[in-house]
Amino acid sequence: MSSVTERETGMDQTAKLELGGKEITCPVITGSEEEKGIDISRLRAETGYITVDEGYVNTGSTTSDITFLNGEKGILRYRGYRIEDLAAHCDFVEVSYLLLYGKLPNDQELHEFRMSLRRHTMLHEDMRSFYNGFPRDAHPMAILSSVVSGLSTFYQDSLNPSDPEQVRQSELRLIAKLPTIASYSYKKSIGQPFVYPQNKLSYCENFLNMMFSVPGEEYEIDADFVSALNMLLIVHADHEQNCSTSTVRMVGSSNANLFASISAGISALWGPLHGGANEACVNMLERIIADGGNVKKYVELAKDRDSGFRLMGFGHRVYKNHDPRATIIKAACDKLLAKLEIKDPLFEVAQELEDVALNDSYFIEKKLYPNVDFYSGVIYRAIGIPVQMFTVLFAMGRLPGWIAHWKEMHASAGKRICRPRQVYTGPTCREFVPRENRS
Ligand code: SDX
Repeated sequence: MSSVTERETGMDQTAKLELGGKEITCPVITGSEEEKGIDISRLRAETGYITVDEGYVNTGSTTSDITFLNGEKGILRYRGYRIEDLAAHCDFVEVSYLLLYGKLPNDQELHEFRMSLRRHTMLHEDMRSFYNGFPRDAHPMAILSSVVSGLSTFYQDSLNPSDPEQVRQSELRLIAKLPTIASYSYKKSIGQPFVYPQNKLSYCENFLNMMFSVPGEEYEIDADFVSALNMLLIVHADHEQNCSTSTVRMVGSSNANLFASISAGISALWGPLHGGANEACVNMLERIIADGGNVKKYVELAKDRDSGFRLMGFGHRVYKNHDPRATIIKAACDKLLAKLEIKDPLFEVAQELEDVALNDSYFIEKKLYPNVDFYSGVIYRAIGIPVQMFTVLFAMGRLPGWIAHWKEMHASAGKRICRPRQVYTGPTCREFVPRENRS
């Protein structure tokens, strides 16, 4: 018989666990937003037991100062600042500084950071040949993960996780080069020449120019697209211990270099249940439109567990209320499409789908709301980003968050290699059978 009870003892709480007559008292960690966690670091040593929690639904991997989420209230803050304020008043480079260094930069700090990034936007010319090795229809997330890992072969002078200067060099190189690597993968896919970075341009202006300009004509950068892109990168910039960030921490905990750790995070983000949902969501909306726009049919399909169909861009492990990012993105969708006088059937269907789902008892009971991936694709399409690049844009946004968590993990006093336990359920010990005696 086991039970867990919390006892208030002065400032600190403890949790008492009774296991088969044994008793263990675990400290309770209280975060700055009053979140509570039971510290079970002594559990196995004192009881021989471990805990098991498939998918880590109830298990925290660490404490962190970077991002706070409250899924019940739909709250998201980076280093204490509300995502709504950051999206409204900052650009992506400023928010990247906040995530990496823990404070909003003053004018001088921001200027120096921008200039530092601009010195690293180019890729080593030998890396251009990487792209010749990929088939034309290679998925850009595969290219992104491969080329980012390849950066470690060109920057062997900045791989040591314990050297702050080498880490700073690597973080600048990654943030500066990801737009270049991404845009090269797009140009490769359409057979157009790669466009070199223009360091007189801002981060998002530069990305749009590398994506859409061609040697034969002037490319006019649309300020509305730049503004929308900054907002999208900001709302994607971090989200505490999500699947890809936990992957970056896990891989980094072995003292693998930052490039290798980020490459692993890119691969985790690619999954359709995670960052790949933005691409899957647009494909789903297009499927609904092709099927006559019958939204109710697909809502019913999503409710049938045996259908294998889910509303992509809907639901979240943490948010059981509106994802504040979806709210910000949806408002920006409205504004951008109205300004461009675009009537995108995808946006119409997405809004109808949201209305139908949010009034359906299945979604209400399971607290399933649109997440960050539900409307982002509509804006990416309006900008002209191809669907296969949507998750690449997510990775570009998430990069400063990944790096911040990797650095926080390395700076932690309790840092050790991540190596979860398990409960074995396979065959018990068996006598070996020589091959000639096997049936
Ligand atoms: C991101 O972690 C993060 O913070 C991620 C992210 C970030 O910024 O890093 O926010 C980005 O990844 C957003 C999520 C993008 N993924 C999708 O939109 C894919 C569709 N959504 C789901 O597959 C699902 O909601 C997850 C993966 C997002 C969450 O999965 P959970 O928490 O493991 O929940 P679950 O799969 O166990 O679902 C709980 C119930 C299930 O029904 P029951 O088994 O209880 O009967 O809700 C149902 C699910 O079938 N459900 C859905 C659904 N999502 C959950 N049913 C229909 N459509 C959906 N979209």
